[in-house]
Amino acid sequence: MPLAALLIVISIATASMGLLSTPNLIHAEETKSLFDRLGGKEPITAVVDEFVNRLVADSRVNGRFGSTDVKRFKMLNTELVCEATGGPCKYSGRDMKNTHAGMRISETEFNIVAGHLAATLKKFKVPKQESKELLAIIGSLKKDIVEAS
Ligand code: HEM
Repeated sequence: MPLAALLIVISIATASMGLLSTPNLIHAEETKSLFDRLGGKEPITAVVDEFVNRLVADSRVNGRFGSTDVKRFKMLNTELVCEATGGPCKYSGRDMKNTHAGMRISETEFNIVAGHLAATLKKFKVPKQESKELLAIIGSLKKDIVEAS
């Protein structure tokens, strides 16, 4: 086979392998749980740690956490995120509605808290897609947490 023809055959073969393998790779990423795409328990624990540190340092909301056991609060939020993203954990705390009932938490407060999570995800350079998915999960809890306007 002349060299030019051989090169054409090789390039067609390589291109078609690419066509076959690329969608499979993309598909594998898509079918991975959010928990796995976030990197698992360790980075999630680090994100929750920073997120809660920000909450207790923010005078707009830290009055709410005056008597909170911060270590336990971090542990429960880590479990919650781990389970909600498809990880192997079991959340051992109370459900969001009963936990926050009677606190009269406003939408403004909720947005401040969610904003700290968004800023934390940015700081940890969590990719846009994964950040978006986690913030959507947390956002879906709003109806059970916010009572006051
Ligand atoms: C953004 C979504 C939120 C999530 C995922 C969340 C998650 C949690 C979790 C897991 C607990 C512990 C439940 C237990 O003790 O069994 C908790 C408790 C609590 N949350 Fe939230 N929360 C959210 C929003 C808020 C907001 C906006 C406020 C008020 C600014 C707030 C104030 C509290 C307080 C005061 C407690 C009780 C802490 C204690 O035991 O002293 N939460 N929350």
